[in-house]
Amino acid sequence: MSQSGAYAAAYARSIEDPTSFWGEAAEAIDWDTPPVTVLDGSDAPYFRWYSGGRLNTCWNALDRHVLAGHGDRLALVYDSPVTDTKQTFTYAELLDAVAIFAGGLRSLGVEAGDRIVLYMPMVPEAVIAMLASARLGAVHSVVFGGFAPHELAIRIDDATPKVVLSASCGIEPGRVVEYKPMLDRALELATHKPDVSVVLQRPEAIAAMGERDVDWNELVARSEPVDCVPVGATDPLYVLYTSGTTGKPKGIVRDNGGHAVSLAWSMRNVYDIGPGDVFWAASDVGWVVGHSYIVYGPLLVGATTLLYEGKPVGTPDAGAFWRVIAEYGVKAMFTAPTAFRAIKKEDPTASLRAGYDLSSLQTLFLAGERLDPDTYHWATDILGIPVIDNWWQTETGWPIAANPRGLEPMPIKPGSPTVVMPGYDVQVLDEFGKQVAAGEEGNICIKLPLPPGTLPTLWNDDKRYVESYLSVFTDFYTTGDGGSIDSDGYVFVMGRTDDVINVAGHRLSTGSMEAVVATHPSVAECAVIGVHDQLKGQIPRAFVVLKSGADIDPAVLQREIVTAVRDEIGPVAALKSVVVVPALPKTRSGKILRRTMRGIADGRPEAPPSTIEDISVLDVLRPLLRDSGD
Ligand code: COA
Ligand code: AMP
Repeated sequence: MSQSGAYAAAYARSIEDPTSFWGEAAEAIDWDTPPVTVLDGSDAPYFRWYSGGRLNTCWNALDRHVLAGHGDRLALVYDSPVTDTKQTFTYAELLDAVAIFAGGLRSLGVEAGDRIVLYMPMVPEAVIAMLASARLGAVHSVVFGGFAPHELAIRIDDATPKVVLSASCGIEPGRVVEYKPMLDRALELATHKPDVSVVLQRPEAIAAMGERDVDWNELVARSEPVDCVPVGATDPLYVLYTSGTTGKPKGIVRDNGGHAVSLAWSMRNVYDIGPGDVFWAASDVGWVVGHSYIVYGPLLVGATTLLYEGKPVGTPDAGAFWRVIAEYGVKAMFTAPTAFRAIKKEDPTASLRAGYDLSSLQTLFLAGERLDPDTYHWATDILGIPVIDNWWQTETGWPIAANPRGLEPMPIKPGSPTVVMPGYDVQVLDEFGKQVAAGEEGNICIKLPLPPGTLPTLWNDDKRYVESYLSVFTDFYTTGDGGSIDSDGYVFVMGRTDDVINVAGHRLSTGSMEAVVATHPSVAECAVIGVHDQLKGQIPRAFVVLKSGADIDPAVLQREIVTAVRDEIGPVAALKSVVVVPALPKTRSGKILRRTMRGIADGRPEAPPSTIEDISVLDVLRPLLRDSGD
């Protein structure tokens, strides 16, 4: 498959001699103190990269580009059709804004190692605050705005921030979402009490301020710029919570050194983006794609990044993406397949792209969920450029499998995110930990050590890190995805093998939804399963068994459960469908067979285990698991 062999050579070297490969990649980064050890396995399985090195991520993203004479280059473009606002920042302007906001944070007592929680919409201040946190050597934790106060409170208690940053509101289709009351509620629920909340007032909703609240603009007005604080390469840059199989989210830790090196490497070698190029990741800063490819990746390589506040459809119409690409000369775009499905639904022939000059666009990257062949073909047909699937996770921070467009473009196979990226020794294992044959499905695992930029551990929970990821197969990280690798080395990711689902590219835990559903007074037991949805890929559906004697109208039950999940987890959970069933499939010992249900829903049914209590239960469930109602 390989044309020039650049990929094969890079991959082989990364696995055979990781120290040389990643040592060389680290030269793309400015170090205050060069690393002593590239790959440090002294505390395995907690591998560390670039031990002994010291750097500042904000310096690498901003200061060094200005110092090199590129201060006038565009760093950040904010485009917000939902508020009818556009704003640009050159590297020099962004650096000024970040240095001053960092000064403001320091005046509130934030120092290296302190945590800052952000609960913010897609505004430039969110990017500025993340970089300001990095500048101080502090640790940010961004919580997606679609999560409810309870979820925010859980994260505040785990991260124990000194300061929380928020805004008066976010804008969702047809409604202004007031964030401040949700923040206040979260702070009531949380045990940990941050010193202050800094609140950005947006004209769409003015928030009532309390005693512990500081106005964002007032803080900026009274602050002085501060310099970068060098930190250890292995010190945390951020913690990003993601859904696990239980209700408690996992705090994915990202360190400074490995993160900077791996993102700079991926920008050039995977996304083919360098200084001055315009890169647009249409995601949200609350997700890993937003961290890696809206904020840090493009800036680390001196590119221009786009911050888009809005949806692909609705405001004003399904031509919004084409307008943005043409207006800013976007070279490569990154989003989730669901965004293209949304456009296709509204404008099946992409008629709205007429009149826009899309000649700048060389590549479309899609990730976050499986790229179904229909969406792949539609996007390829309407754009006439390579449409590149790439597979990764919050845990890894950058692609595990991709088509390395900058290193060596590979032929595309629809349905596959192409080949394994350097540093990842990916193997497909059967249930006994034995590698399966080419083309055979199994558990997709990565042999330790994971490459730079991937999670070194979970925040304050080394034990859970090992239990969650390293305990199934010795010396392997379990991705939680099932799939195969064909004889050309192409990876095929078929879906999660656990209780995590992907709804519109958003990762959610069915376990946390079940925990809410189970609290309904009429519910005896329940299972929440991801069923196929034409737009969002998957949507959660709750299957509930009523308590004996419970007398409730199913429509009322559904309404109450949907409201409870929205209130506890947030609208992003997108649970809209609740069905009452006479029984759930169980083993004779009473364990609910969620895996069997998931298999039916995914269209990959396995033979039900011989321990199933009553096989006829599955006959009732089968149509309900397959029919998404779309
Ligand atoms: N703040 C508050 N509420 C939010 C929110 C936020 N930041 N983000 C989403 N929500 C709400 C939505 O308003 C919606 O509420 P509703 O049930 O009252 O309509 C709910 O959470 C579900 O949101 P979503 O799943 O995004 O559905 P949607 O119908 O609003 O939009 C898409 C669907 C496909 C257009 C949209 O999800 C999309 O563009 N996704 C692709 C890009 C992306 O985000 N990728 C993420 C990782 S790459
Ligand atoms: P997140 O941590 O939110 O990035 O979600 C990671 C999960 O999304 C992965 O474990 C996969 O299940 C799924 N995923 C992401 N990208 C892809 C892809 N390109 N193909 C298939 N599944 C994907």
